[in-house]
Amino acid sequence: MNAIPKHLQINEPIHQREYLLDGELKVWEGKTTEVFSTISSTNEYKHTLLGSIPYMGEKEALEALKSSDKAFKNGQGNWPTMKVQDRIQCMENFVSLMKDEREEVVKLLMWEIGKTKADSEKEFDRTVKYIYDTIEDYKELNHEGARFTKVQGINAMIKRSPLGVVLCLGPYNYPLNETFTLLIPALIMGNTVVFKPAKFGVLLLSPLLKAFQSAFPKGVINILYGRGREVASPIMKTGLVTVLSLIGNSKSAIALQDLHPGKNKLRLILGLEAKNPAIILPDANLDLAVSECISGSLSYNGQRCTALKIIYVHESIADEFNKKFSAKVDQLKFGNPWDNEAFLTPLPEPNKPDYIQELIDDAKVNGANILNKKGGERSNNYIFPAVLFPVNKKMRVYHEEQFGPVVPIMTFNDIQEPLDDMAASDYGQQVSLFGKDTNTLAPLIDVLINLVCRVNLNSSCQRGPDVFPFTGRKDSAVGTLSIHDALRSFSIRTFVASKENEYNNEILQELLDSKKSNFINTDYIL
Ligand code: G3H
Repeated sequence: MNAIPKHLQINEPIHQREYLLDGELKVWEGKTTEVFSTISSTNEYKHTLLGSIPYMGEKEALEALKSSDKAFKNGQGNWPTMKVQDRIQCMENFVSLMKDEREEVVKLLMWEIGKTKADSEKEFDRTVKYIYDTIEDYKELNHEGARFTKVQGINAMIKRSPLGVVLCLGPYNYPLNETFTLLIPALIMGNTVVFKPAKFGVLLLSPLLKAFQSAFPKGVINILYGRGREVASPIMKTGLVTVLSLIGNSKSAIALQDLHPGKNKLRLILGLEAKNPAIILPDANLDLAVSECISGSLSYNGQRCTALKIIYVHESIADEFNKKFSAKVDQLKFGNPWDNEAFLTPLPEPNKPDYIQELIDDAKVNGANILNKKGGERSNNYIFPAVLFPVNKKMRVYHEEQFGPVVPIMTFNDIQEPLDDMAASDYGQQVSLFGKDTNTLAPLIDVLINLVCRVNLNSSCQRGPDVFPFTGRKDSAVGTLSIHDALRSFSIRTFVASKENEYNNEILQELLDSKKSNFINTDYIL
């Protein structure tokens, strides 16, 4: 094992006791849960104690909800009625405080979820950029609405307004970035939020608690800890939540929706599972396809919703593709997140290697081979990616979202086969299409775009750049996220309308001139 750089060592566990309730950092005195990393600090393997977090329950969950509900106050709260520039000011304060915590957050990303140093830094920096870009987009959105339109003798000022209380639950693979892609637009649009961190990647939020507390008014954001089922369920049952925003599993999303007593009141903003395929046509540039499929299927060990989770290769080129691909997989370096060469890193879920092993064993029983020499090699916190071939529909790995290091490959003879499979799939996020002949590509693109939401031509699947729409069909998503779309998702179009006549016009003019209303306001925010 390479030595752990001094500044990245865990000297003292972080015993997180504070939580953010009603504008105060309260000290938790109840039960706690220990937080471990699957990365060892010693030569002899042993998981590392990183610290502990509060184990909260229904009572605390309802207190947090009450505070957010009070801050929204049925739309009468200070936050939802505040001037746009004042909310922007709070967000700017937050991001400037957040930037000071980069080193600590990046270190914890590595330890808690095993993400490489470069990717952890990228996650932090991408999030900071996301916040700044959101602020700029919100200003633009506000400018567009800051005017009256006259139609059929009616003057109207049309803007976007908040929805209410948002319950925000993020995923463990991007505990900072993806969580914030929900939190930030929700807050800036004037909603109030109850936020519970994911199952891993919790301590990395500790350095940011103070920033949340000092940047936002009381009750605008409440942060609690505990198990999803125990804290999110009672919150949903009250019916006080207007938006369920969750990036995670479709089954949990359905279970939570079902608890809400007012189905039409509840808006959903969900990023869920996917089983993105790569389709490799006979004329594809194989070296390019191999390298894109490596990064697509195995960056962050395949623990990305956008990861390539099944590869369809035309049977005429399957041998060549498989050889090149398997050789490349075996060249990937495994190491701890701070090891310079490491591409594959420890899995944060202690039981993940066993699960991946089950998928491999099941595939073998049903006729697949492991093509690469190192495939399936076990260590304490890892299982080396196995390239499984030929995969068929009897296998679990064909149906399940593996979310980990195993790559199933199938062949096809007729392009209709992968198209039919995609149509039958419960998921519909993205596809990677590898080929060159535009006579083949053109009609295929026209069909694929109706099966998924993003067709990546000769490129792996990914969420970014964050200005592009991120969404999916079927069980892959509800709603669209991107810097711009998220502002729309977390708000609703609203307007003030008035029949044109002298009496009304005078009042509107007075409202504009006096600037007494924060809605009827044409201020340009620089
Ligand atoms: O887990 C799913 C993420 O949205 C993937 O984002 O494509 O930037 O890794 P990414």
